Amino acid sequence: MLLSETLNKAMNGQIGSELGASNQYLMIASYFDGESLPELAAFFFRQSDEERMHAMKILRYILDAGGEVRIPAIDAPPAKIESAEMAAKLALDWELEVTKQINKLMDMAIKENDHISQEFLRWFVAEQLEEVSTMDELLSVIRRAGESQLLLVEEFIVRRGDPHAGGEGSE
Ligand SMILES: [Fe+2]
Ligand SMILES: [Fe+2]
Repeated sequence: MLLSETLNKAMNGQIGSELGASNQYLMIASYFDGESLPELAAFFFRQSDEERMHAMKILRYILDAGGEVRIPAIDAPPAKIESAEMAAKLALDWELEVTKQINKLMDMAIKENDHISQEFLRWFVAEQLEEVSTMDELLSVIRRAGESQLLLVEEFIVRRGDPHAGGEGSE
């Protein structure tokens, strides 16, 4: 087995975080759908799929490295989203938290001299830069528009396009 037990365990935990993010984005997408804001809804449905893909990527890596997959209990996302600003803030906070988690995994891999895991985790490090900056931007655009002008945000999303288009994240 290429993975230490400690790193294996931490990666199983990360599968839980990614699936938790996926569920949280489903809640956010549903909120926007309910508010008749289809672009924001579609954006978060895509984001949810992407988080599941992240979980799958880690799961696949654990299997390839001869480790053991264990899916942890997933915390329920907040039951009610009250506003677009709250939704974007939740997403940004979550991405900042995940960034810390990924850094921690990387720290472990470095400490253990596990170069294979470092190589694997580098993709996630780069991905977090994109995730955090996307959510940060979305939050400021929502704040600038205000809750009554969210159609401007819809426009913005259409014009900006999917930040993940162009192949990245499609693996
Ligand atoms: Fe993720
Ligand atoms: Fe993410």
